[in-house]
Amino acid sequence: MELGRRAAPAKLNLALDILGPRPDGYHEMRMVMHTVSLCDWVSLQEEGEGFSLETEGGFCLPPGKKTMEQQAAESFFQAVGRPMPGLAVRLEKRIPAYAGLGGGSADVAALLRLMREAYAPGMPLPELERIGGLTGSDVPFCVRGGACLAEGRGEVLTDLPPLPPCWIVVCKPDFGVPTPELFARVDGIGFRDRPDTGGMIRALEAGDLAAVASRLRNVFEEVLPPSCGEVFRIKERLLVLGAMNAAMSGSGPAVFGIFQSRDTAAEAAEALKARYAQTFLAEPAGRL
Ligand code: C5P
Repeated sequence: MELGRRAAPAKLNLALDILGPRPDGYHEMRMVMHTVSLCDWVSLQEEGEGFSLETEGGFCLPPGKKTMEQQAAESFFQAVGRPMPGLAVRLEKRIPAYAGLGGGSADVAALLRLMREAYAPGMPLPELERIGGLTGSDVPFCVRGGACLAEGRGEVLTDLPPLPPCWIVVCKPDFGVPTPELFARVDGIGFRDRPDTGGMIRALEAGDLAAVASRLRNVFEEVLPPSCGEVFRIKERLLVLGAMNAAMSGSGPAVFGIFQSRDTAAEAAEALKARYAQTFLAEPAGRL
């Protein structure tokens, strides 16, 4: 039985600050996050027995490990107090994986929404976000979407006004950055250039795109290994191509630039695509 097909939007970090390590092994975060129109598609079917996951779009699942999707499905049915039926999940991947764009978290969030619709329509959204947080720190935000201040591990969410209308070019160089490795490089570091998170929030509240753009900042850029120099070259290219500003998203290596004009953004995306195949033109996406 077909239960539906949902978009799973990528996320960007407009500001990313790390306040310090926590006793539970995670880090205390302060991030301004936003969903964008670049998205995967997730379909859910009830059939057979057990849990199966199939992907289309050249994405390889980690071999021999329980997927985040299966973990989330198990947590969901545990929370609703009923046995998990046979489920078949299909992913149409568009969001580059291991990029800092929350692709895996977005897929899990879309699956949780599909399961809620089919099996627990009365479940409050905060409960669905809580279940998502059991699978990954970015999943609660991806369940909610839109614009949020994300604190704690990333699961303590405060709604913010969305970005004013604009265009976003997302560009991922051809290497990945393992998130836990980058977090490990953070400890003991005094960051030079912390984001003005309060200023970013005020800029969103004022609907002032120039003020938002001027405050794009990600402390992870300061701890990138030397092999990731391409990130800074892409930022430079985006600025030369007319972006108001550019920054890395999450633990990278995807970089994004904000543009006022669609034409300028489309031309910039075309120019970058010649060198970086995984370049996308996107717009801000609202709450889900
Ligand atoms: O929560 P998630 O599984 O996405 O986190 C992946 C890894 O990233 C964690 O195991 C941890 O090493 C690191 N992390 C962290 N602090 C956070 C989020 C993630 O140290 N707030």
